[in-house]
Amino acid sequence: MTGERSTRSTGGGARANRQPGLTTESFASRISTWQREHGRNSLPWQNTRDPYRIWLSEIMLQQTQVATVLGYYERFLKTCPTVADLAIAEDDTVMALWAGLGYYSRARNLHKAAKLVVERHGGTFPNDVAALAELPGVGRSTASAIAAFSFDTIAPILDGNVKRVLARHAGIEGFPGASAVEKKLWVEAEARLPGCASDMVAYTQGLMDLGATICAKSTPSCLLCPVSIDCRARIDGRLEEIPAAKPNKPLPHRSQRYLIAQLGDAVLLVKRPPIGIWGGLWCLPELGANDANPHDSRFVRQLETRFAITVAAETHELEALEHSFTHFKLRMLPIRVTIKSIHPRIAESGETMWLPLANLATTGLPTPIKKILSNLESRTT
Ligand code: ADE
Repeated sequence: MTGERSTRSTGGGARANRQPGLTTESFASRISTWQREHGRNSLPWQNTRDPYRIWLSEIMLQQTQVATVLGYYERFLKTCPTVADLAIAEDDTVMALWAGLGYYSRARNLHKAAKLVVERHGGTFPNDVAALAELPGVGRSTASAIAAFSFDTIAPILDGNVKRVLARHAGIEGFPGASAVEKKLWVEAEARLPGCASDMVAYTQGLMDLGATICAKSTPSCLLCPVSIDCRARIDGRLEEIPAAKPNKPLPHRSQRYLIAQLGDAVLLVKRPPIGIWGGLWCLPELGANDANPHDSRFVRQLETRFAITVAAETHELEALEHSFTHFKLRMLPIRVTIKSIHPRIAESGETMWLPLANLATTGLPTPIKKILSNLESRTT
């Protein structure tokens, strides 16, 4: 579907959910009207039709709450006000602007996509869903949201919250993350679209708002919902069962030792490889499974050789920190050593740096690494 602005005669929303005797207004029209009156209408990415700003907000809002995104969004746009600015920004700048938001592949894809928009599309965002969906990090739902908000394109969205709204309204069983269930939900999302392009902004935002505020996971506020009258799950008293929860699979546990090499008031950081957790961010050096443990006499010698440093005092194992990723839980074990001197070879390079603890607050680091270092800072100041 491309930049469609005309009124559609078949109106899928009408087909899907206008039940005689219950309501004469289509699902889409009830959602759009409700959004204009009761939805969120002053979020910073709502006062623009600039696809760059809308795309940036949609990527930040994937897996992240509005309240968290607000500050990051403003800061990002101050440094990179246009897609061309983002395309020429340094990797480090982009990663630092993203640090703390999590899911860092989003930032790497964002940067790649900006370069593609400049190279392939001359710096102008494409206005059709298929071309948007070809950009790294932009899936079908995000492409539709960008197109709806920027160009009034009539295209369905299906993010986590919207899956819940549609699963309940249509009474779709099963876990929405399962591909067969997701397929059914896309059909429902298509069938409910407004007939009129001028409703697309309110409709798309309305579905998001309803999912985020009214159609909550537990104890939804059905009295305030514009589509509760024909909501299958509500009518059948199955709001707690639909949508079905993710089948339980315990997350694997991993543990990792991190070296805090402290020279005066600075600590040694290394740049992580671009792929994998915290890809491209500055981090504490990791100690491998084969490295000696801190009580072993070989430990200090190994550190001195590997990092070209001279250790001044005995090592301390600090309090462990647990951090959850989507696919595993990480037990982080910080080990602190005080450094007497460093070999000039590693004083500073593209891959290592000595960060003064006083600069911690203003440096982009993974959140748990920042936490470990701020605990250390409060202990040493
Ligand atoms: N989540 C995803 N997109 C959003 C938007 N445009 N507004 C609020 N929450 C969102």
